[in-house]
Amino acid sequence: MIKNSTIHFLFLFILLNILVFNVHLTKSKPYPKFPCHPPHHKYDFCNKKLSIPTRVNSLISLLTIDEKILHLSDNTSSIPRLGLPSYEWWSESLHGIGINGPGINFDGPIRGSTSFPQVILTAATFNRSLWHSIAKAIAVEGRAMYNTGQSGLTFWAPNINVFRDPRWGRGQETPGEDPMVISTYAIVYVKGFQEVDLKGVEGSGGGGKRRVLEEDDGDRLMLSACCKHFTAYDLEKWGHVTRYNFNAVVTKQDMEDTFQAPFRSCIQQGKASCLMCTYNSVNGVPACADKELLDKVRTDWGFDGYITSDCDAVATIYEYHNYTKTPEDAVAIALKAGTNINCGTYMLRHMKSAFQQGSVLEQDLDRALQYLFSVQFRLGLFDGNPAKGQFAKFGPQDVCTSKNLNLALDAARQGIVLLKNDKKFLPLNKRSVSTLAIVGPMANVSSPGGTYTGVPCKFKRILEGFYQHVNRTLHAAGCLDVGCNSTAGFQDAISIAKEADYVIVVAGLDLSQEREDFDRYSLLLPGNQTNLVTTLAAISKKPIILVLTGGGPVDISFAEKDPRIASILWVAYPGETGGKALSEIIFGYQNPGGKLPMTWYLESFTKVPMTCMNMRADPANGYPGRTYRFYTGEPLYGFGHGLSFTSFSSRLLSAPKRLSLSLAKSNWKRSILVQEHSRLGYIHVDEVPSCSLSQFFIHISVSNDGDMDGSHVVLLFSRVPQSIHGAPQKQLVGFDRLHVPARESVETSLLVDPCEFLSFANDQGNRILALGEYTLVLDDIEHVVSIEM
Ligand SMILES: *[C@@H]1O[C@H](CO)[C@@H](O)[C@H](O)[C@H]1NC(C)=O
Ligand SMILES: *[C@@H]1O[C@H](CO)[C@@H](O)[C@H](O)[C@H]1NC(C)=O
Ligand SMILES: *[C@@H]1O[C@H](CO)[C@@H](O)[C@H](O)[C@H]1NC(C)=O
Ligand SMILES: *[C@@H]1O[C@H](CO)[C@@H](O)[C@H](O)[C@H]1NC(C)=O
Ligand SMILES: *[C@@H]1O[C@H](CO)[C@@H](O)[C@H](O)[C@H]1NC(C)=O
Ligand SMILES: *[C@@H]1O[C@H](CO)[C@@H](O)[C@H](O)[C@H]1NC(C)=O
Ligand SMILES: *[C@@H]1O[C@H](CO)[C@@H](O)[C@H](O)[C@H]1NC(C)=O
Repeated sequence: MIKNSTIHFLFLFILLNILVFNVHLTKSKPYPKFPCHPPHHKYDFCNKKLSIPTRVNSLISLLTIDEKILHLSDNTSSIPRLGLPSYEWWSESLHGIGINGPGINFDGPIRGSTSFPQVILTAATFNRSLWHSIAKAIAVEGRAMYNTGQSGLTFWAPNINVFRDPRWGRGQETPGEDPMVISTYAIVYVKGFQEVDLKGVEGSGGGGKRRVLEEDDGDRLMLSACCKHFTAYDLEKWGHVTRYNFNAVVTKQDMEDTFQAPFRSCIQQGKASCLMCTYNSVNGVPACADKELLDKVRTDWGFDGYITSDCDAVATIYEYHNYTKTPEDAVAIALKAGTNINCGTYMLRHMKSAFQQGSVLEQDLDRALQYLFSVQFRLGLFDGNPAKGQFAKFGPQDVCTSKNLNLALDAARQGIVLLKNDKKFLPLNKRSVSTLAIVGPMANVSSPGGTYTGVPCKFKRILEGFYQHVNRTLHAAGCLDVGCNSTAGFQDAISIAKEADYVIVVAGLDLSQEREDFDRYSLLLPGNQTNLVTTLAAISKKPIILVLTGGGPVDISFAEKDPRIASILWVAYPGETGGKALSEIIFGYQNPGGKLPMTWYLESFTKVPMTCMNMRADPANGYPGRTYRFYTGEPLYGFGHGLSFTSFSSRLLSAPKRLSLSLAKSNWKRSILVQEHSRLGYIHVDEVPSCSLSQFFIHISVSNDGDMDGSHVVLLFSRVPQSIHGAPQKQLVGFDRLHVPARESVETSLLVDPCEFLSFANDQGNRILALGEYTLVLDDIEHVVSIEM
């Protein structure tokens, strides 16, 4: 029976493929309209033999003022006389192709796309190669959707703001709270998403013509990724303060070593082709109007992509920040500051009169268009029919593939964090479970949740993940919804829990509690959820298992302390295959290895004003500081917390004891400066010309001392000499994820660049390296390295 239907499906699949393929060959319909379509292919801007800047300038020279203004929106209008179709810049790809952007639709041949876990869970894997594979997989699905006319080529991900406050509704979208982890994620995601994979294009059309493009190949983009939201954005709504009117007051010190660090990496090393400026002001200036801030990205970081505003962020310059007297002044100041498009229509509506008033010049428009068109040319948008192009082969057959669904599954397996596991309660032995009760408002929800989710390929509810393992799975929601404002459903939950051998409660958060435009006020479980968990713990035959959903940390200290709650797992928003991953962990088919990418604070943290951006603690006024680098209080779970079913032990195989920074190549004036500073106990990183020469390796061995294979995340921290004001308590200098078979050891080497990873910012916002003794910390091992001149 099963075999027959498989064959049947295969046959259908082949038939469908043939049909789809035929559609491609015979009709131009599935492909979007494209520029340089005959008879509009004779313009210089269509000539692939010319350089991109030449083609861009040629195109700009053909446009009237009005036509130029039409290009300053995410949704550009067509210009029929030049054969330019309209283009929608706004597509989303945070953890899979998302539905949020108007550039995306699921109404064509492609009806769904792989829904990977929300970023915060993928970050918890600390696995660079997984991050890269996911970005690549999303890019392939994105190109396929472009080819069927269902998406654009420019995507507004990743979100690389620092998860500064646990209440933030969009912390779930980020790789957590550590600038080094976020930077690494940003680089890996952007590269994986943008790079033209030559393996991926073999056999495609275009053949010999690609030779002509060779000179530009390094510049070519598979798709365009966007580092957002620049900068110091991490508040949606706190009292009357919203992201639209918030003025983030940030010290130079925090700016340099917290808020800007991921953006610098995303641009400089990731080579992102887009930057999004944020709604909020930073130190009194709306980010999209801040010429000094945006100029630096181009001059200091070498950014050559385009800058888009967050949606209608140009309007907020006038409407919320009252930063200008008129809307015209707002569009003028944004354009001149370096914002190239306003997502929305504000520039469309007000740029013409700004131009007529003389506050915007034609060259200001041209400059914006140069950046915008350059990215479109690098994407191949002006290279003629995409059906004959480099990426033509991607189509519906490349979306929701079993390979991508397995990758989503793997990400959930690797990311899920085991927070508590009393007396090795987990994994459960399947044979001891004939009836399992799965309780809770999140166990049977019909979508994967998480912000910026698309339409999944074949979503399975968390509950369904357990059916294959257990003969009898009972379910009661317990609460009507996640808000759980009533105990009316408790009785059903209690009666199935009494019947079951084991009870799993799936509680936590969903988008009703944390989302865009919505922060939490409390870190406790919503409504009566805590009550539900403790009620079930009290009546169950055995201790219960608590599974937490949601991207933000929850204060579940009651459960951490309660012996009747044996195990706690955090699954965040685990994507479309999360239920399967969870059940595999609970029954021991997978060994959890995820680690928290952010601190889990206690409820008392909510006394701290969300609007206070300071990272550093201030003992004078009782301000506790933020994130593991600066928080002086006792967290519920620290950054990097996460248990395994096996036990690992780490050893430092080799690490230097002493490091001398050489000033060999520095000039006389500089050496004087350096000597002066070094007498004060530190040096400025940019005063040491050969800082990268002092990179060193730390060799580490990890043993799996238990009986189950597993993966271990190595987190190497450094404690810097505390003599200097504002030094972090500790900071991450390297990480790696290692698979270690039972009773075996595996070695790895971490490269430490002292100037990059041991440094921090001083009060003036300059990166300094303290001289003296640094302590490298690896689990419970400490090793002292002395850094001297
Ligand atoms: C984009 O603009 C076109 C006209 O150029 C309009 O038909 C379309 O509805 C717009 N799309 C959105 C999402 O606003
Ligand atoms: C901006 O100005 C308007 C009136 O022009 C005023 O109603 C509003 O309160 C001001 N907003 C802020 C944030 O100052
Ligand atoms: C599950 O059902 C099968 C078949 O009815 C039975 O052989 C097995 O013992 C049951 N398992 C448990 C744990 O009850
Ligand atoms: C899960 O929810 C669906 C409705 O979305 C419902 O039809 C189904 O019965 C529920 N499953 C269980 C086991 O309660
Ligand atoms: C409780 O929640 C339900 C469902 O969200 C809602 O309909 C109801 O009005 C709420 N009741 C109270 C008292 O808030
Ligand atoms: C808990 O449930 C009770 C009874 O249904 C209700 O009156 C109360 O408002 C709920 N508490 C919260 C915090 O939602
Ligand atoms: C990292 O992810 C890749 C891709 O999913 C996987 O093959 C590899 O085993 C993972 N590494 C570890 C140590 O878990």
